[in-house]
Amino acid sequence: MSDEASKTAPVMKKLFIKTYGCQMNVYDSQRMAEAMGAEGYVLTENQAEADMVLLNTCHIREKAAEKLYSDLGRLKPLKLEKPDLKIGVAGCVAQAEGEEIQRRMPIVDLVVGPQAYHRLPAMARAGRGVDTEFPAEDKFEHLPKPAAATRRAPAAFLTVQEGCDKFCAFCVVPYTRGAEVSRPVSRILAEARDLVSRGVREITLLGQNVNGWHGEGPEGREWGFGRLIRAIAEIEGLDRIRYTTSHPNDMADDLIEAHRDEPKLMPYLHLPVQSGSNSILKAMNRRHTVDQYLRLVERIRKARPDIMLTSDFIVGFPGETDQDHRDTLALVREVNFGTAFSFKYSPRPGTPAYERPCIDDAVADARLQELQTLLTSQQRAAQESMVGRELGVLFEKPGRNPGQMVGKSDYLHAVFVEAPEARVGDLVRVRITYSAPNSLAGELAA
Ligand code: 5AD
Ligand code: SF4
Repeated sequence: MSDEASKTAPVMKKLFIKTYGCQMNVYDSQRMAEAMGAEGYVLTENQAEADMVLLNTCHIREKAAEKLYSDLGRLKPLKLEKPDLKIGVAGCVAQAEGEEIQRRMPIVDLVVGPQAYHRLPAMARAGRGVDTEFPAEDKFEHLPKPAAATRRAPAAFLTVQEGCDKFCAFCVVPYTRGAEVSRPVSRILAEARDLVSRGVREITLLGQNVNGWHGEGPEGREWGFGRLIRAIAEIEGLDRIRYTTSHPNDMADDLIEAHRDEPKLMPYLHLPVQSGSNSILKAMNRRHTVDQYLRLVERIRKARPDIMLTSDFIVGFPGETDQDHRDTLALVREVNFGTAFSFKYSPRPGTPAYERPCIDDAVADARLQELQTLLTSQQRAAQESMVGRELGVLFEKPGRNPGQMVGKSDYLHAVFVEAPEARVGDLVRVRITYSAPNSLAGELAA
């Protein structure tokens, strides 16, 4: 082969990424893929043909963390077969366990915490390493940007804030993701405009405590989250804005007003309450009462009557009594959630609640079951209430049948629509005609 030919045909290496856990990890995986793209890696969906396997992990509950080790066990034969295969562990387990991962699983070459991703390319070049520092620089600014022409799917995530200072007694996030840091307005707007120029029409702003975002504005003065949303809404070509996850104590007036005034802000709010018992909320260090949460819900619904509320719950927190559990069920009945995630409490090393005696496991299981039954019935009812309504739907991909498209409604339900003329990225009005267990069907509105 001539020199010229070898220059024009660079060897592309293949990168396989598996993402566990929250949307912040989904965003980080995308950014890591872009960073490794600049190193000549292209993404593959097939783990067996990869030159590098990256596991982007979650540490929130024990089960999530243990998944990493069972996946690494399954990777062993592949590594034996291909000794040049690089195996990397990123994300929150990398942060929490660091070198311990390599001790337990020597097949792991790279361990990189969530604040050190921009150093991943250099680590990959070096071949082996561990980096779980919290560098002072903004990691997002040090990650290479994709080529300008690279198209993106119509809905994208944008991390505006990292870390958490709330220290809920059960939660590892303040330790794995570090202190709360808000990115400045100028960088967020630049990234949002860049996404829109690549075909993005819906942006979900991400942060562990996103409604507590407070960043430096263009004139050096501090902005709140409501103002940030209004500024993003001015971007032409962007149609929808969402955000997650929020803390009840950071639901400022200007954010509630944005829900009232800003049509691009979707009528959907994930506002975790965790428990409906005041004594458990106190033990969890949530710093608000049931009554404060209910009054907040009332104010939000007054501003935006058609808003859908969702939440997270933990059952079986240390000290939880039957009465505490009944109080949680009562709160769920009173609020009526569109959907909710509920988890059995999982003691996490290093958190304040870790040493507290756990409640009986069978009792916790039964409570989880009871709560989930109630939440599922509310979810069904919320979905069925969409039938007959006309909603916006952003098409994200073609459906299984010819001529069919699948998109997300204003309320994040998947909606199937016969729309042979439509394209991915179209935002259309759809009349909902049918509610299936996990999706809706509808027809294009006149
Ligand atoms: N055990 C069970 N669930 C937890 N969550 C966070 N930490 C724990 C834990 N130790 C849940 C909370 C949080 C969601 C992301 O995960 O409900 O809102
Ligand atoms: Fe964890 Fe959320 Fe509490 Fe922060 S606010 S400690 S992320 S549950």
